[in-house]
Amino acid sequence: MVLVMFGAPGVGKGSQASILSRTLTIPHISTGDLLRENVAKGTELGNKAKGYMDSGALVPDDITIGLFQERIRRDDCKNGFILDGFPRTLSQAEYLDAMLKAESIPIDAVVNISLDDEAIVARLCGRRVCPACNEVYHILYNKPSKDGVCDKCGGDLIQRVDDSEATIRNRLKVYHAQTQSLLAYYRSTRNVVDVASQEEITDTTKQMFGLLNLEYKG
Ligand code: AP5
Repeated sequence: MVLVMFGAPGVGKGSQASILSRTLTIPHISTGDLLRENVAKGTELGNKAKGYMDSGALVPDDITIGLFQERIRRDDCKNGFILDGFPRTLSQAEYLDAMLKAESIPIDAVVNISLDDEAIVARLCGRRVCPACNEVYHILYNKPSKDGVCDKCGGDLIQRVDDSEATIRNRLKVYHAQTQSLLAYYRSTRNVVDVASQEEITDTTKQMFGLLNLEYKG
């Protein structure tokens, strides 16, 4: 199965992709996570990307497409994958289409998650992440069992550099100016499933699973 998670920054793409990945046992591929790994390791690519990411701008297509290309060739993608944060530009979408067409792999659905910008700002200000395993938490809506510690791997939780209010607002501006229009492209070519983000993460998951005809086991 191939799914593309679509929507504004902070709408919940990563949280839902992670649940889908566990249920479908296919990898969750987040270009944001791949970029942050490169920034943390201080690679040449990470050093090039850092300034764009810290300000909330899009990283240039040659970098993101190169990263995506390398990740998608790994063996664990053979039975499908869930894309989170890619594509974000028409060039990236066209690259993905050409790649999938060459391999005769369909996109089963584009999952478009929506939420208004002010609710997104509130959510992102409370997000905490585990830099070791990329698990995502929230100080109110999705607390770890022990404050500041990742349930999954025991790592120390941090706040992302780009989760300051000014940068969140810039990321939203960039999304509306450069990425949102891709939805029209997908509506004309693919099966788009519209999910309205709910106050509870599990309510959003139930809605999404229903629309994807997947069994929700809780
Ligand atoms: P990326 O890492 O992709 O960030 P993003 O798109 O801004 O998305 P987020 O990870 O912030 O949010 P999300 O939708 O996954 O929400 P989450 O599930 O965490 O990209 C970062 C940067 O990398 C970009 O700005 C850009 O510079 C660069 N980049 C990445 N890909 C690129 C590309 N393809 N091209 C160019 N540049 C690229 O949820 C948010 C919070 O809300 C969490 O705390 C969660 O617990 C909580 N929450 C989620 N759902 C609910 C709910 N239903 N109710 C209550 N709380 C909820």
